[in-house]
This record gives sequence, structure tokens and C-alpha cells, in this order.
Amino acid sequence: MPKPKVFVTRLIPEKGLALIRDFCDADIWQDELPPPRKELLARVRDVDGLVSLLTEKVDGELMDAAPRLKIISNMAVGVDNVDVAAATARKLPVGNTPGVLTDATADMAFALMLSAARRIVEGEKYVRDGKWKTWNPQLLLGADFVGATLGIIGFGRIGKAVAKRAKGFDLRVIYYDPSVPSTSDATPVDLDTLFRESDFISLHVPLTDETRHMINANTLSKMKPNAILVNSSRGPVVDPHALHDALKSNRIFAAALDVTEPEPLPADSPLLGLDNCLVVPHLGSASKYTRDMMSYLAAQNLIAGLKGERLPNCVNPEVYG
Ligand code: GLV
Repeated sequence: MPKPKVFVTRLIPEKGLALIRDFCDADIWQDELPPPRKELLARVRDVDGLVSLLTEKVDGELMDAAPRLKIISNMAVGVDNVDVAAATARKLPVGNTPGVLTDATADMAFALMLSAARRIVEGEKYVRDGKWKTWNPQLLLGADFVGATLGIIGFGRIGKAVAKRAKGFDLRVIYYDPSVPSTSDATPVDLDTLFRESDFISLHVPLTDETRHMINANTLSKMKPNAILVNSSRGPVVDPHALHDALKSNRIFAAALDVTEPEPLPADSPLLGLDNCLVVPHLGSASKYTRDMMSYLAAQNLIAGLKGERLPNCVNPEVYG
């Protein structure tokens, strides 16, 4: 019996890859950069399964270019790169990798919050630039945590894990998430209250039509002048032009971004010219264990889909009727 054919769009960690190689005839894209669109369409032509990353647009055109496709396994918790409705219409299950990246992503959100508040990157640059001459009582003063208010937008797994960390820093935690009407972990508020009262705002929503550019000129204008905005969700949740204007005019104190629009952020982006904007290259889930587990879950989803079994983590269970 020949093994099912699959295309894996990058060299993912061995933990998942070993499983995939065992069960499948795997074509694995070896380059650092994602396969160009044309190449992607060509490589899926005769595959039974696809392992994609958030860098690949998996849309109806791609699905139609792969008539044998039985399963799309996205190695990420977010699936905004996949047209899930198009997959459902074609009865194609889509897998994702929730749970295993919750803590790593919450750690990253907190690291960004601390770094922006305490001006770690500015301080590091100051030292490297040879500017450190003495202890200066007014140098690079930042924000305090104790007693400050953290507003979390999106109170799912990751938002809750951020709230848990905030307790240790004596922050007051409020959140906006209509799907979580109440919880003992934090106080639910409407969005306007969150913008008005938060000293820190951390975004943990998926990218959807409703959340695209939810941080814009209007919502930024409602924030406190000392507000620090942290985005470790998806770049397009924040309008980058409005954010640039708000940071440049010191409308808000700082932003720390793990994700940007576009991604990668071009080296000449005006955001990178601002001292109060910290940007890292989408590293939320980038810890060894987390990435190992993401590859493992992606492999499990892939293999279940190839066997015609229910995926352990499926974002469109409607396909099972
Ligand atoms: C990473 O951003 C993910 O969605 O897993």
C-alpha cells in the first residue's frame, strides 16, 4: 500500500516531522523562505495532505489545485491564513495547534509589556551606543506595575494566562470579551471603559472581520497618554499608520509588537524609527518545547485526517456532519 503524499511547507521541528515521515511520503520545503505561490500550487497538485504555516495563504484556489486533498493541518493556533469557509464547503477538515502555545505566548506578551514599560531596548541601545556616562536620576524613566490596570482584549486561553501572570505583579485586570461574560480571574468591561482605564492593553483576539484594525485612530484617541499597547495576536488587529501617529505624537506612551502589518515589517517602516515602539519578529510561540509540541499536534492532525479519522484539534468540525 503506497504511503499518502503530503506537502510540508517548511522544515518544522523533528518531533512532528518524524511522525510525518513515518506515515507519509513527505515532500518537505527546505528553504528558509516560504514556497512562492506558484510553487505551492504546483506542489499540492497530487497530495493527500498539507501541513501549512501562517505564512501560506490556503484559499479556495489552492484547495481546487489539490483535488486529492483530504486534510489541511496548520501549524499554528490562529487560522486566519486559511479560508476555513472554503475548506468547509469542500468538506476538508482544518487542524490547528491550540493549548501548547498558551504559556509561551502569554510569557511573550508579558516580556513585551515589561520591556516597553521599563524601556529595556532603549536602555540596551544606550549602553551599546557608548552613552552611559553615570547613574542619572532622570534617565529613561518608565512605568510602574503595582496598582496599574491591565486591559486584556480577548479573554480566551492566552488572555487568561496573561491575567494569571498579572496577578503576581499586583496589576488590576479588566478584560473585554463578549464570549466570556464573567470570571473570577478579572473584571469584564465594555471596550470604551477598557480603553479609558487601562495603563497596559494587551491584545489576544483572533484576526477576523470584526477585529481587523480594531486599534485605530479612534480607539487610540480613547487611551490614556501613559498607555502601553502590546500586540502578540495578529498584526492587522492594529492599524499601523494610526499607531505610528499616536506614538510619534506621544498620544500614548509606547507599543510593543510581536506581530505587525505587514509581516515581515519592512526595514524602512516608519514604526522602526520610533524609540517608543518595540518590534520583535513574531516569536510568541518560539520556545523549544512549544514549537516541538506544535509540530507534534500538526502531525497528529495530519495523520488523523489522512486516515479519515476525526482530527484531535479541528477548527471546522461541521465537516463531520
Ligand atoms: C502563532 O501566531 C499561532 O497562531 O500559532
